[in-house]
Amino acid sequence: MKRVFLLLIISAITFLACNSSDSNSGSQATETPAAKEEPKVNPDYEKGLAIEAKQNCNTCHRIDEKLIGPSYNDIAAKYAGTSDTIVAHLAKKIIAGGSGVWGEVAMVAHPELSVEDAEAIVKYIFTFKK
Ligand code: HEC
Repeated sequence: MKRVFLLLIISAITFLACNSSDSNSGSQATETPAAKEEPKVNPDYEKGLAIEAKQNCNTCHRIDEKLIGPSYNDIAAKYAGTSDTIVAHLAKKIIAGGSGVWGEVAMVAHPELSVEDAEAIVKYIFTFKK
């Protein structure tokens, strides 16, 4: 009787071990192609988001809807894929603030942002280009 019990336990452990390694390799296989679709595998996304998240941008900007400012999707659609000059221009605009491109409402200035950080945020916004 004891031996049967032991056998049962061993087979249960073997079953669980096999199963979990199966599901591991299964999830890895499904993760890789899905992750490629996500903008977050982009290093520009990671770096820019880390800086953006500490700023007040969310008060006026959302990724997919216009708030006080244009959505990041709209900004990416307008500029992404264009030259480094545009990245530098938008970074300066974030630092200095201003209006007139999307309407009469002005963006506040962000003088505390370095040019490098502002450019990283612009590149992050550009990852939303469809
Ligand atoms: C007080 C609201 C407000 C805040 C806070 C704000 N924005 Fe804006 N943002 C705007 C408005 C309004 C516009 C449109 C300006 C225009 O029409 O020229 C804009 C435009 C932009 C543009 C496009 C500029 C252009 O010339 O096309 C970018 C890029 C941008 N914002 C990024 C940011 C980032 C990054 C932050 C955070 C560091 C931020 N904004 C914070 C209101 C805001």
